[in-house]
Amino acid sequence: MTSRSTSPGKIILFGEHVVVYGRPALAVPVTQVHADVEVSDSSRAGIWINAPDVNLHAELNTLPSDHPLASVIHNFLFLWRVSPFPNLEITITSTIPVASGLGSGAAVTVALTRALVSHLDRLMTDEEINGFAYEIEKLHHGTPSGIDNTVVTYATPVYFIKGKPIETFKVGTPFTIVISDTGISAPTKESVGDVRKLWEADIPKWESVFDRVGKIAEEARKNIESGKWELLGKLMDQNHTLLQEMTVSSPELDRLVSAARNAGAMGAKLSGGGRGGNMIALVEPERAEEVSSALMAAGAKRTLITTVS
Ligand code: PMV
Repeated sequence: MTSRSTSPGKIILFGEHVVVYGRPALAVPVTQVHADVEVSDSSRAGIWINAPDVNLHAELNTLPSDHPLASVIHNFLFLWRVSPFPNLEITITSTIPVASGLGSGAAVTVALTRALVSHLDRLMTDEEINGFAYEIEKLHHGTPSGIDNTVVTYATPVYFIKGKPIETFKVGTPFTIVISDTGISAPTKESVGDVRKLWEADIPKWESVFDRVGKIAEEARKNIESGKWELLGKLMDQNHTLLQEMTVSSPELDRLVSAARNAGAMGAKLSGGGRGGNMIALVEPERAEEVSSALMAAGAKRTLITTVS
């Protein structure tokens, strides 16, 4: 028997960084990219992990315990007190670019956990999967807000406030965004740490900046729910300016943001941890290809056109 699970990528629309400080953020799944996991019984002894994308073919116990894939499996087996260990073949593939703000780590964790749950006949609710994935995120990312694992687990648009019950929301009228990758991989941990240093040096100033971003995220949610997506462009531009103030943009991100606007996007901003990774641009559907080409011409490594619905 083979058990399979798939999880989407994600993109943060508004509120990255301030979400770490209790302000709201909006994130949506990106289903064109996904992580896929297959678990089947094995005739050879051990738990064999095959991840061809990263050229990994190894038995679980030969991997360091803090290896991202090994830590999911170890924690899962520990959580469920699985003993003795079953003999398994686990194959993991993903089309989600790594370290670029598209949630690849969370997607692999969630898909792997769900495939193990089903193969080993356990039961976990979405809430439990989400909680487990959050613990894994914490092992690798320091103090994550939990937005990545949440949107990936529920695979639906999420209005996220750290420590509050999960709020999903409906998209009144579908809208189109172009996601564009700088090709620069930038650790979120560093940009989050740098924002913390700024905040510690002048708490009143940054609290008020974070409040402004929080208001932008709230207004964006209202506009998305009521189908007034064209109002999001201005909010993206405002959010990007405040992210620049937080020092998490970069020349490459700014170049792509300008290129998108010049090519007719209604607004654009960096998305995720910043300093590299992805930016997003709001476009009228008929302009998407044009904006995408302009982004490639401005140095993007790849672009993805997605409909948020
Ligand atoms: O780089 P990403 O997409 O994983 O997003 C990080 C989002 C931050 O708000 C910067 C950090 C967090 O944990 O929420």
